[in-house]
Amino acid sequence: MTEFLVACRCWTVLLAAGLFLCFPSADALAREDTTLRQCSPDGRLCFALTTVAGVPTYSVDRGGVPVIDPSTLGFMLRGAGKWGGAIELGDAVRSSVDDSWEQPWGENRLVVNRYREMRVPMVERRATLREIRLVVRVFDQGLGFRFEFPAQDQLVDVTIDEELTEFAIAGEAEAWWIPGGESNRYEYLYSRTAAKEVGTAHTPITFRRADGLHLAIHEAALVDYSAFWLQRIEGQRFRTRLAPSSQPWKVRREAPFATPWRTLLVGKDAPALYAASDIILNLNEPNRLGDVSWVKPHKYVGIWWAMHLDEWSWNSGPKHGATTANVLEYIDFAAAHGFGSVLIEGWNEGWWSESGRNFEFATAYPDFDMERVAAYAAQKDVAIMGHHETAGNAGLYERQLEQALDYYQRHGVHAVKTGYVADAGGVLREDPDGTEQWEYHDGQFMARHHVLVAQRAAEHRIAINAHEPIKDTGLRRTYPNLVTREGARGTEYNAWGEPPNPPEHEPTLLFTRMLSGPFDLTPGIVSLAGRDGRPIPNTLARQLAHYVVIYSPLQMAADLPQNYRKRPDALAFIERVPVDWERSRVVAGDIGESAVVARQRRHGSDWWLGGVTDDSRREVAVDLAFLADGKDYTAEIWRDGPGGGIDGDRFAMLRETRTVTSRDTLSLTMEAGGGFAMSLTPID
Ligand code: NOJ
Repeated sequence: MTEFLVACRCWTVLLAAGLFLCFPSADALAREDTTLRQCSPDGRLCFALTTVAGVPTYSVDRGGVPVIDPSTLGFMLRGAGKWGGAIELGDAVRSSVDDSWEQPWGENRLVVNRYREMRVPMVERRATLREIRLVVRVFDQGLGFRFEFPAQDQLVDVTIDEELTEFAIAGEAEAWWIPGGESNRYEYLYSRTAAKEVGTAHTPITFRRADGLHLAIHEAALVDYSAFWLQRIEGQRFRTRLAPSSQPWKVRREAPFATPWRTLLVGKDAPALYAASDIILNLNEPNRLGDVSWVKPHKYVGIWWAMHLDEWSWNSGPKHGATTANVLEYIDFAAAHGFGSVLIEGWNEGWWSESGRNFEFATAYPDFDMERVAAYAAQKDVAIMGHHETAGNAGLYERQLEQALDYYQRHGVHAVKTGYVADAGGVLREDPDGTEQWEYHDGQFMARHHVLVAQRAAEHRIAINAHEPIKDTGLRRTYPNLVTREGARGTEYNAWGEPPNPPEHEPTLLFTRMLSGPFDLTPGIVSLAGRDGRPIPNTLARQLAHYVVIYSPLQMAADLPQNYRKRPDALAFIERVPVDWERSRVVAGDIGESAVVARQRRHGSDWWLGGVTDDSRREVAVDLAFLADGKDYTAEIWRDGPGGGIDGDRFAMLRETRTVTSRDTLSLTMEAGGGFAMSLTPID
């Protein structure tokens, strides 16, 4: 009742025939079409909230230029109709934050968190009087807003059929996007189309306007809610479409709760857009796990590529990959070359049973001796990276989770790759009565599942690298053992994909998928060959560049040991490149065309650069102004050699050394499908 009265505030309340009726006071009526604005700390980016004929409507402008045209907000609530008409805005409560925090690992050690916040009650002027609050945080380079459902008698068991948040992109724009809700989850090549030709897209989706402004729409802190796909309604007007569940509704929660943040990143160019992506982390809750020093960024090798080449198999039999003998050899290779761990896929019973119904996460195939392998690895100071493929049977995995994690912990495993290979909508779980239910990889059930796995794994000091995951929404801030994930087309497509990943893939990923967080791309295929020798459309130097361009705190050296032995120059780079960074910046780049990324080693003074191009040969001028002034650096460069490129000799690579300073600009040629990698080490 108190909540009810609070909700009614300035209204006259009558109790008639068992119904609460509210009549707006003169004061309330005068509020119709009031606009509440909240601008960023630098005053340039502004969010405005109003009502238009009672419909809550927001817009965004930057320096007075519209970015998001008036866009409506609302919800379809099961059994309770639409929320979003006859709305009155209450008083805005404002606050601001200006601080920074330290990541346990990441692209940047320190993250600046500076925003202005506005919280506005939005109350229905109907008998129901349901209140939803809008909270917006406006940063200089973007913003996030979310809905809070306060505890209230009129809305306790909240059942959401659809969220009706619109984004009307102002100004003609192009878009880079992958389809949302399609069978292959997030594993599509990006389409570049006019914004008005987008269908239903996953997020992050990136837009570039005719005036050069870059925008990305995504979400942050996806907790106990369904992910949204962005559906185009008309022209450049988009609306959230929540991923479905096995139930008729999309989301079911008990108030009070808050939705994930709906985010908009804004940059004057592609590098600025990448820099803005810290906003996603800032909108997540701080670390809940406490000391996470057991989460160790590192490079790994694994019983992996040979399966994708179809030379070995996951299941036991004549081609079985994860035999004790094979794994011991990989451990030797890892120890000899300084790799932190060996991923072992296909060691446990149940491989590729239908919907993963036969997986046993703590039972080894007869030709794999976990005790021996774990003891040998410990002796060689190499870790084992565990693997839990579920084939989408998340229900079975949850039932075995404790036993599965405990098994790994007892064998010294501190990182586990999980997998949910199943078509979209093919995630299996069971109701308490045993009824099978099918869920989406990005519905509410899986949002809960991934947090559950993170929490349980943390209790066993295990970090998670999820494949076929839910999209990244920055939850690594809250659960720093969510170290990396897939959620894009990775290198495996270069083994068997039709087509393989084209050269524009990574310069597109950097400004789309990578805005959301780390990606386990699994780079380093120095043989440049997939299944049956099919050529990978990259140069050798380009495979090295991926280690810097595509961030992941677990970075794989994915090729076979025998292939690395044939390419010692390339292996020398992979052995030395760091995976944890003090700071990162995109030095230059355009979506889908090229990118040059510079990262400084965490707590170190050496810098590492990677450059990638699409299928065009490009010269890039790399301004080294980011180096410390007055110091000489040794630049070691791995770059495409003459005659290189995907139409020439893909293996042509020059490894050279120069002395440079912060006053230098290096001119480098990237051949078609090529790139470069570089280390810059101060000379003492
Ligand atoms: C797909 C994953 O992306 C890949 O890395 C893994 O090897 C297979 N599933 C088997 O789990």
